[in-house]
Amino acid sequence: MSAPRFYITTPIYYVNATPHLGTFYTTVVADALARFHRATGDDTFFLTGLDEHGQKIERIAAERGVALQDYCDAIAAQFQETWKRAEISNDDFVRTTSPRHKKAVAEMWARMEKASDIYQAEYDGMYCVGCEDWKSEDDIIIVDGEKVCPIHQRPVERVKEKNYFFRLSKYADYLLELYEQPGGFIRPESRKNEVASFVRGGLRDLSISRMKKSVSWGIPVPGDPGHTIYVWIDALTNYLTVLGGPNAVAAGGEAAERWAACTHLIAKDILRFHAVYWPAMLKSAGLPPPRGVFCHGYLTVKGQKISKSMPATRVDPLTIAGDLDAAVGTDVGIELMRYFVLREYSLGGDGDFTYESLLQRYESDLGNDLGNLLNRTVNMAQQFLGGQVDAWAGGSEGLGALHDEAALVRAHFETFTPSQALDQIWYSVRSANRFIDAKKPWVVAKQEAQANQGGRSAALNEILARCCGWLRAIASMIAPAMPEVAKKILRQIGRPESDASEWPSAFTEFWPGGTMGKPEPLFPRLEPERKAALIAKWLPPEAPPAAAPAVAADKPAPSPATPAAPRDAIDIADFAKIDLRAARILTCERVPKTDKLLKLTLDLGAEQRTVVSGIAGAYAPEALVGRTVVYLANLKPAKLRGVVSQGMILAAGDAEVLALAALDRDVPPGTKIR
Ligand code: MSP
Repeated sequence: MSAPRFYITTPIYYVNATPHLGTFYTTVVADALARFHRATGDDTFFLTGLDEHGQKIERIAAERGVALQDYCDAIAAQFQETWKRAEISNDDFVRTTSPRHKKAVAEMWARMEKASDIYQAEYDGMYCVGCEDWKSEDDIIIVDGEKVCPIHQRPVERVKEKNYFFRLSKYADYLLELYEQPGGFIRPESRKNEVASFVRGGLRDLSISRMKKSVSWGIPVPGDPGHTIYVWIDALTNYLTVLGGPNAVAAGGEAAERWAACTHLIAKDILRFHAVYWPAMLKSAGLPPPRGVFCHGYLTVKGQKISKSMPATRVDPLTIAGDLDAAVGTDVGIELMRYFVLREYSLGGDGDFTYESLLQRYESDLGNDLGNLLNRTVNMAQQFLGGQVDAWAGGSEGLGALHDEAALVRAHFETFTPSQALDQIWYSVRSANRFIDAKKPWVVAKQEAQANQGGRSAALNEILARCCGWLRAIASMIAPAMPEVAKKILRQIGRPESDASEWPSAFTEFWPGGTMGKPEPLFPRLEPERKAALIAKWLPPEAPPAAAPAVAADKPAPSPATPAAPRDAIDIADFAKIDLRAARILTCERVPKTDKLLKLTLDLGAEQRTVVSGIAGAYAPEALVGRTVVYLANLKPAKLRGVVSQGMILAAGDAEVLALAALDRDVPPGTKIR
């Protein structure tokens, strides 16, 4: 049987900007998913690339006085260099100015034309060059009497010319049906509703060309070189270019199989293009849709939109990584950035970037948890066992537990929830540290030294073999996020680097034995003064506070007023009645005959509870297992659809569930929240 296929794409980025935190985010997520699928043996293909045509690029190159292709080549080199340093493992890199892509776009046009879906008509409307998108009256705002794009805060341009149109309106029913296909064409589910209601609101035919005299930097309309193909028709086709073009995919075989397994990872800014225009174009061209579209949220920097006009928001991952490396004398900076974006933001939701939380994760997750586990294990193995940790002799239970854990992590990667995959891995990291704390190998060593007279201690070997077994599995599971750190861990515990490219489900022994390497701290401590210096470098000076009203010298300064209490205010004693706990989801299943409810078993540390929760519309059961949630433990039990629910878990959203309340770090199940 051939291996399952996995094909993942990022958007092809405009060359009007160099890589920044936002594009890094999408690309790292796609990379981690691709690396995970390769490790589990799937036939994987990962594509990224550049969108080089269109008015936006034409203008920027003109502003800089550079020839268009030279300008694109220079930016392309920067993207490729950045992705290389960010350890992006793409299998291909597509550029829309390449001959293979131009050929693919011409094929796409011809196929849509053959379906009689392209016609010419007069266009009279508005266009935003920033968005490279047509705008209706509903899409714009009026500022000082001018029609302005609310996204780019710039006036839209009036376009009145003879264009080619695509019969998009014809495909509304097809699209609505597609969105309902099992497995979900648009993920997460909440995004589907947004797109479906846009389609239900009525689709208008789409203008898909510009007169060459107004836009010349693009691919000419086949047979009518006075017109240039609309940049989005050009760009979307990139996903087929690398499979040999539309005709190759239509011919079946490997290209078609790959196509059927393709997920486009994008952010919400370009969802409509991918979930409405693109599948309609494909249908018109006689091609099947891809597997689907996964839409993640938008990152802001200290609450601000990432924008060229705000240099402080243009966080450059490579600069941060380099600065951290210089501060601690190591080379893990880029993997910290990768780990951070994967762990910090739950894919799908929006997130805010702060330097403080980045360094917090370095110190706590990487230094205190993972680094500490490795360092103490290797040190103790050197000290107590002469560096040789023999194979695990504790029976099959060790391997069984490890396979179970790997299956939980795997489910998260498979459902595009990498942050939960990492949460789950860190649960193991922290459990292993707690295991060492509880077993106190240094005490055992003392006792054994007296009893054993210097001979090898089976008891110590068992403790450290357990740590090594877990470290090996942890290395393999973090490899999609931090490939080099994974290899470094394996080297220190005397295992081949190739363990990092396998998933632990393939391991046949819990710990096959190994000779420890030199114990070297992977994440050296960040001294407080260096940390302060980093933050000072990264954070531009704050804007001066708004001028305070002058206070006359002879008057005492007003004391800050106690704010008025809101109506319905409760006091702290009322709040103390609420028993909130951290709870880990052990199992999760749908409640039969309703599409709203999930039944969960929660681990509260000392006991387990059953809860019925109305979150089935927002979460698939398998995506929840292993997560730690905020649980209201002392709610009176209630019966829902015949199941007794003991308490509830907290979620954001009013009519619709938008997100589950979560903790920003792992804590043991049952921990009180106050
Ligand atoms: N060229 C088009 C895409 C064509 S795909 C056929 C384009 N390019 S872009 O350079 O603007 O990239 C947009 C994408 O970059 C987003 O969809 C997202 O993947 C990523 N991001 C850019 N800024 C981002 C954030 N601030 N936050 C999260 N992702 C961001 O649109």
